[in-house]
Order: sequence, then C-alpha cells, then structure tokens
Amino acid sequence: MIRQIKPDIYSVGAIDFDRRIFDELIPLPHGTSYNSYLIKGRDKIVLIDTVDPTKIHELFSNLKELDIKHIDYVVAHHGEQDHSGSLPNILDAFPMAKVVTNPKCKEILKDLLLIPDDKFITVNDRETLSLGDKTLEFIYTPWVHWPDTMITYLKEDKILFTCDFFGSHFASSDLYIKDIPKVYESAKRYYAEIMMPFRNSIKQHLQKISPLNIEIIVPSHGPVYLRPEVIIEAYKLWTSDDVLNEVVIPYVSMHGSTQKMVDYLINALAKRGITVKPFNLTKTDVGELAVSLVDAATIVIGSPTVLVGPHPSAMYAAYLANVLKPKTRFASVIGSYGWGSKMLEMITETIHNLKVELLEPVIIKGYPKQADFEKLDILADRILVKHKEIGIV
Ligand code: FEO
Repeated sequence: MIRQIKPDIYSVGAIDFDRRIFDELIPLPHGTSYNSYLIKGRDKIVLIDTVDPTKIHELFSNLKELDIKHIDYVVAHHGEQDHSGSLPNILDAFPMAKVVTNPKCKEILKDLLLIPDDKFITVNDRETLSLGDKTLEFIYTPWVHWPDTMITYLKEDKILFTCDFFGSHFASSDLYIKDIPKVYESAKRYYAEIMMPFRNSIKQHLQKISPLNIEIIVPSHGPVYLRPEVIIEAYKLWTSDDVLNEVVIPYVSMHGSTQKMVDYLINALAKRGITVKPFNLTKTDVGELAVSLVDAATIVIGSPTVLVGPHPSAMYAAYLANVLKPKTRFASVIGSYGWGSKMLEMITETIHNLKVELLEPVIIKGYPKQADFEKLDILADRILVKHKEIGIV
C-alpha cells in the first residue's frame, strides 16, 4: 500500500494485520506495520528503513508501482530485522544504493545481515546529506531501544523520521492517526514493552529534538502523527518521575489462598481510594501488565509457594518488572505456603533493579484467616500513607 505524505514523499512499507506476536514475546493485539519511506529528491532518491523480510514482496511491489528504478541511499536507523531485514534484497535489486547509517548500526548490520563493508556510508551525529532540494539531518538517539538507534529530520518538509521511537504496534490502512485514544494506548504499550528500560536516555532525546520545528512525526511502526505534540507530550509524561495513585497486582493462585488474599487487598485498597489493577497471570496479556507499570506507584506480587519458591508465573512477572525497570516507588509481596517457603526471598532478589521501598509483605500459612486479613489491611494502610507522602493522594 502506497500513501503519499507530501509531494515526492511516500510511505511504501507494509502493514501486518495478522501478526500477533513480536520477537516471540510481545503480544500484538492490533497487528503492526513496518513503515518504509521513499523520498524523491531533485538529485537523489532515498529509502528510509526497509520492512520485515516476511513482507519484502510488498515493498518491492510498492517501489515498482512508483516506477522506482534507482535508489541512491537507504537510511538504516536501526539494525533490528523488522526494519533492516530486507536490506540485502534491496541492495541486490539496487546495486548502486549505499546504506547510510551510524558506525554502531553498521557494525550490527554487518554482523546480522552480512552486508559488505563497501556498501556503507557512515554519518556522524547531526551530519546532513543533501538530496538536491531536500536535506536529511541524522540525529543519534542511542538506546531507543538498541545502542545503534538514530532518527532523521527532513529539514525542508519539517518531517521527523523516528523508526521505533514514538512507534506503535498498530496496523491501520489509515496513514494518519484517526482514533487518537486507541493509538495512544498502543503507543503506550509499545513504550512499556520496549522503551521503558531506557527512560532516562529517552528523556535526553526528547530534549535533543525539542528545538526542531516538527510538523509531522513519521515512525516505522504504526500511524503517522500530524500533531507531533500528541506523542511528544505523552512520552514526556511516561518518562517523567511522576507516578499515579495506582497499585498493580500481578498474581497467580493454585488452590485459592492467594486469590482470596488478592481479592481482599483489591477491596481494601479500593476502599482507601486507590486504583487497583490486578492481573491474573494465568490469563493476562503481559503487554497490559507492562502498560500498567508505566505509571503505577506500587506493585504487589501475589504468589503461592511451589517447590519452595514462587509459582513460575509470578517469577516471570517479577523478572519482567525487573527488566522493564518502571518508575514504581513501592513494592510488596503477598501469598501463601503449605509447610515452608523461600518465595519472598526469591521474588525480592529478582526485582533488584527496581528502585523501590519494600513494604511489609504478607506471607501466610494455608488459607487466609482473620489475622491475615488484618495484615492485608495494614499493608493497604501503609500503601496509602506512602502514596500520601509522595503527594499523589
Ligand atoms: Fe522495530 Fe527495534 O525494531
């Protein structure tokens, strides 16, 4: 599908309506797209990123429809294969084309795709490349989400090509966003799953691009932003240190004890005016759990004891939270055991990356009794006090 953004600037990538998992890890409830863009300058033609190799036929078909017989440059913003995987095919089809990228991305592309050294032109941060009547400026943005990532500003048209940055896994035949809340949620999910561990780098990149006069933000996943402030302000919020009066409870229960505790705690927190987001790990989409971690003040992990340790699903949630490094401020653990448990120690060791204050856990023997419910009330009180201390209640 070809969509024109401006005269001589086209979206020529592929929409993957059917894809339901990315990296064999991330659920894609709304599919995704691999956006590639063609810019016809007066003197030079450039392709910005390519597509996932499974969709190479669509990219070729679009280039054919535009009667493109020559490409001078292919800008590679990032080495991951959903954007770079079709580069070898493009270079075969357009042998004069050079890959324009930064040294780190070049190294990755040589390793992953075996592209020969002489195919590359490397650019420095803020270096420009003229297409005749149009000028590309390359801006390094490392760690969104690999060390190689950069973006490109098309000066004359005030378009910022951002690759993964500001992207969303959202398949749509619309070039531009129409349903802002829906795309906002997809972009937040994308940020949570991929970008959140690099929050501090992203903050710096937001500052770096702030002097640019941007009319259109053109990511390599999801729709194009005609109102750049929508996604820029969202990223400012997500990467800020601000948290919400929310408790996320990823949990699993085997015989009902932990479930009973979770149900009680949900109620206790709700009574105290705190928003609760429980996720039964046997049923939940982990992407939703990741989204909820973007701005919740507190996480409480619920688990029974299995073979001395946590249930593997609870351990997975703890591991996931640890690698995603949300800005969560407080954490606790609740759960049960039959005759002995190292569940608490194993979960707290697993979340060592989180800069949280650990609130008194509630680990009980058997089915919860009155004294256990009282401990859960104390935990709910403690969470409320902590949320008040940081000014979110
Ligand atoms: Fe869309 Fe990091 O690749």
